[in-house]
Amino acid sequence: MKLSVSSLVFALLFSFLLETSASTNENFIHISILIYTSSNSSYSSILKSSIRNTRFSTPSTLKPQVIVTPLLVSHIQETLNCSQKHGLQVRVRSGGHDYEGLSYASPVPFVILDLINFRNISVDVKNSFAWVQSGATLGELYYWIANKSITLGFPAGVCPTIGVGGHFSGGGYGTLLRKYGLAADNVIDAHLIGVQGRFLDRKSMGEDLFWAIRGGGGGASFGVIVEWKIQLVPVPSNVTVFTVNKNLEQNATKILHRWQYVAEKFDTDLFIRNRTVQASFNSLYLGGKDKLLPLMQKSFPELGLVSEGCI
Ligand SMILES: Cc1cc2nc3c(=O)[nH]c(=O)nc-3n(C[C@H](O)[C@H](O)[C@H](O)COP(=O)(O)OP(=O)(O)OC[C@H]3O[C@@H](n4cnc5c(N)ncnc54)[C@H](O)[C@@H]3O)c2cc1C
Ligand SMILES: *[C@@H]1O[C@H](CO)[C@@H](O)[C@H](O)[C@H]1NC(C)=O
Ligand SMILES: *[C@@H]1O[C@H](CO)[C@@H](O)[C@H](O)[C@H]1NC(C)=O
Ligand SMILES: *[C@@H]1O[C@H](CO)[C@@H](O)[C@H](O)[C@H]1NC(C)=O
Ligand SMILES: *[C@@H]1O[C@H](CO)[C@@H](O)[C@H](O)[C@H]1NC(C)=O
Ligand SMILES: *[C@@H]1O[C@H](CO)[C@@H](O)[C@H](O)[C@H]1NC(C)=O
Ligand SMILES: *[C@@H]1O[C@H](CO)[C@@H](O)[C@H](O)[C@H]1NC(C)=O
Ligand SMILES: *[C@@H]1O[C@H](CO)[C@@H](O)[C@H](O)[C@H]1NC(C)=O
Repeated sequence: MKLSVSSLVFALLFSFLLETSASTNENFIHISILIYTSSNSSYSSILKSSIRNTRFSTPSTLKPQVIVTPLLVSHIQETLNCSQKHGLQVRVRSGGHDYEGLSYASPVPFVILDLINFRNISVDVKNSFAWVQSGATLGELYYWIANKSITLGFPAGVCPTIGVGGHFSGGGYGTLLRKYGLAADNVIDAHLIGVQGRFLDRKSMGEDLFWAIRGGGGGASFGVIVEWKIQLVPVPSNVTVFTVNKNLEQNATKILHRWQYVAEKFDTDLFIRNRTVQASFNSLYLGGKDKLLPLMQKSFPELGLVSEGCI
């Protein structure tokens, strides 16, 4: 009962906001803690809160008509319904890390559906899985897994402020990639609100749609993913990390060249990536340096990794 009343209020308020002038809204806005129009003093800070690519946040960038920060699944359903009714595109935003600004910019009038309040995480250690809502960050996910178990992990990205929503629907790779694959490979169920507002899980959406929302940025093409069930993976309680930097005078080119031949043959517990003009090899090894050093000596002595470089 409570639920349907609140969603009715929400639907009415939403239509109201879109159809009437800003000043008269003020009386009504206090009913809801969900909707921000440009006349609201928080509009700009909410809009910018998770924008990562400021190239898509200039004075001339088209701004959303409304930003909705749902608290309930029914708010998401109402937002999709009302947006369609009013001919507005919906941009779903989780962590806002989209390189092209797809979650907060649009060439045509639009609404941002910001999942900032959908960030619950529950970890089931006994059965090695977790449910994580799309608005949670990778850092929060890693924190809560580690909070419950130091021998479980999840293979996803390196940057802790990335949102789960865009990351899992895009693929998601990080330091556990070599052993366990992408984040999307380890998703075992999902709750999706389809474009018509239907609530779907893996069983009711079917295997084709479940496949489509995992990778390639497919999520927003098919609806709003509210939460994901993920398979946690075993990790040792101690791991070793190192970064070795080599400049050109230190044979960077030669070592990098060599690396391309040995990288794919490494032990799968070992992840190394390089970037920047100075060759910088960042790494994580699933074990202690007692095992790592002989492994490196065997596979990649050219890098010159020494015990002091290992944490
Ligand atoms: C600083 C930085 C570091 C990064 N590091 C890594 C890395 O280590 N590994 C890696 O794999 N990637 C990395 N990325 C890329 C990142 O994983 C992707 O950009 C990812 O899509 C961001 O997800 P988000 O939720 O933060 O982004 P958002 O901008 O919120 O969303 C990205 C896209 O997904 C859609 N979307 C978001 N939430 C949902 C949802 N709930 N339902 C349906 N569609 C949704 C959006 O509409 C948009 O199209 C990095 C990006 C940045 C900016
Ligand atoms: C801004 O919008 C929020 C959410 O709807 C509401 O709680 C708040 O009172 C509004 N503030 C102003 C100044 O209009
Ligand atoms: C929106 O909701 C109304 C009332 O529940 C329904 O009749 C209508 O078909 C819905 N519209 C869309 C686009 O889902
Ligand atoms: C998150 O969990 C809390 C506590 O169980 C619950 O009250 C809240 O509604 C949940 N939020 C969402 C967005 O599901
Ligand atoms: C788990 O998190 C809670 C709340 O942040 C904290 O009080 C507690 O110390 C953490 N426990 C572990 C083992 O990290
Ligand atoms: C982890 O490392 C610490 C510090 O080196 C050590 O004391 C501890 O015994 C190690 N634990 C395991 C399980 O190897
Ligand atoms: C670079 O490689 C050459 C040839 O293998 C070697 O003689 C030299 O010591 C290396 N330089 C450094 C700084 O490691
Ligand atoms: C690795 O580093 C080299 C130069 O240091 C750079 O040219 C190359 O693009 C880097 N590769 C990756 C995958 O980051």
